[in-house]
Amino acid sequence: MWLRVFTAFFAFVAMDCSGLKVMVPSQTVHGIRGQALYLPVHYGFHTPASDIQIIWLFERPHTMPKYLLGSVNKSVVPDLEYQHKFTMMPPNASLLINPLQFTDEGNYIVKVNIQGNGTLSSSQKIQVTVDDPVAKPVVWTYPSSGAVEYVGNITLVCQVEGGTRLAYQWLKNGKPVCTSSTYSFSPQNNTLHISPVTKEDIGNYSCLVKNPVSEMESNIIMPTIYYGPYGLQVNSDKGLKVGEVFTVDLGEAILFDCSADSYPPNTYSWIRRTDNTTYVIKYGPHLEVASEKVAQKTTDYVCCAYNNITGRRDETRFTVIITSTGLEKLAQKGKSLSPLASITGISLFLIISMCLLFLWKKYQPYKAIKQKLEGR
Ligand SMILES: *[C@@H]1O[C@H](CO)[C@@H](O)[C@H](O)[C@H]1NC(C)=O
Ligand SMILES: *[C@@H]1O[C@H](CO)[C@@H](O)[C@H](O)[C@H]1NC(C)=O
Ligand SMILES: *[C@@H]1O[C@H](CO)[C@@H](O)[C@H](O)[C@H]1NC(C)=O
Ligand SMILES: *[C@@H]1O[C@H](CO)[C@@H](O)[C@H](O)[C@H]1NC(C)=O
Ligand SMILES: *[C@@H]1O[C@H](CO)[C@@H](O)[C@H](O)[C@H]1NC(C)=O
Ligand SMILES: *[C@@H]1O[C@H](CO)[C@@H](O)[C@H](O)[C@H]1NC(C)=O
Ligand SMILES: *[C@@H]1O[C@H](CO)[C@@H](O)[C@H](O)[C@H]1NC(C)=O
Ligand SMILES: *[C@@H]1O[C@H](CO)[C@@H](O)[C@H](O)[C@H]1NC(C)=O
Repeated sequence: MWLRVFTAFFAFVAMDCSGLKVMVPSQTVHGIRGQALYLPVHYGFHTPASDIQIIWLFERPHTMPKYLLGSVNKSVVPDLEYQHKFTMMPPNASLLINPLQFTDEGNYIVKVNIQGNGTLSSSQKIQVTVDDPVAKPVVWTYPSSGAVEYVGNITLVCQVEGGTRLAYQWLKNGKPVCTSSTYSFSPQNNTLHISPVTKEDIGNYSCLVKNPVSEMESNIIMPTIYYGPYGLQVNSDKGLKVGEVFTVDLGEAILFDCSADSYPPNTYSWIRRTDNTTYVIKYGPHLEVASEKVAQKTTDYVCCAYNNITGRRDETRFTVIITSTGLEKLAQKGKSLSPLASITGISLFLIISMCLLFLWKKYQPYKAIKQKLEGR
């Protein structure tokens, strides 16, 4: 590992054994089209020098290197064809390219020659890329109306109007989306296909687009996914609930609430099952039962939830038992007794029982004697 670090370090430093070093901070420089690009170069040597020569060359793959400009001491000799584009201030070897165009993409070679006690020479190569910055992406959802879970598919398309060398990435709730059994990407990754959609796919999606000079993220998109009903349950504002059985005080009104998770919201209907007949007594998520109006003491009800987009329904049965007030109160009190109170109660009960037993035993012999006396 250390060997690799060392090799990487020396890649930036071309060192001649006689002491001339030419250094570039980065061997790859990413430029923006239309802007100025500065290619920094440092060099150092340890011998007395009479002449310092700097030469810049440009090469593209499969072409001959082109001379751009050169200098001896402080005088620059440009190639007249490029003189407006490239600037150098010797003995500073750094090069300024202005303005940068797509055609300026390629390798820039800088060569430094030192004339002194013999001639020292060293060079470096810098790779330059030219890009347009990324414009803000826009995400389109197909179908825009949404999809039903386990039935429909959703396709998200990321569209970018400006920028070169674009790399697309999809984020869900800020985290990268990976290929899975339901997620797939187009070859360029600019399209995300979810097939089939499920409730778990609901979330905040965005498209992140990067290139060497910039990155931009789209606005958040929340695809519409229709699902449910799930987790249907009935609750009441008062009364005792044990499983699907509600115990209500006689004379009390009780409000039932039916709820299930679904999108769009369910339509609810309530059915009372009496005398073998079933009929809808109310629509909506709430049902009020006034216990004095209930003919029977035990009545079965059903709450139905229906999602009119997914076409799925669910229903739950429950029983309402009307009790007399006293029993209800006793049950409530019994529930609220503390363990200490229970122990005291049981102890009292035992003591009283013992006393009664004692009295009864005492009474029995007397009764027997009395019977004997009466028999005679
Ligand atoms: C470059 O400068 C050195 C001293 O600074 C001088 O001796 C030499 O003649 C100069 N060379 C040219 C070509 O002007
Ligand atoms: C070369 O010139 C640039 C400004 O044009 C400056 O920032 C840089 O430090 C100079 N390099 C050296 C080695 O003097
Ligand atoms: C020039 O270089 C030679 C050998 O490369 C060395 O012997 C000599 O001392 C050097 N002269 C100076 C002035 O550095
Ligand atoms: C969803 O995609 C699957 C396969 O990718 C396809 O078989 C199915 O017909 C698509 N469903 C819809 C509603 O487009
Ligand atoms: C999605 O974004 C909305 C606001 O834009 C936020 O309220 C919600 O919590 C986010 N959901 C997740 C799962 O991050
Ligand atoms: C597409 O994205 C996947 C993972 O998100 C990545 O592995 C792959 O390299 C990307 N392909 C392209 C062409 O960007
Ligand atoms: C579906 O139910 C919603 C209420 O949950 C209602 O607003 C909508 O009109 C219904 N659509 C149809 C086609 O019945
Ligand atoms: C209730 O319905 C069943 C069959 O659905 C029938 O056999 C029975 O006689 C009915 N009872 C009453 C009281 O209507």
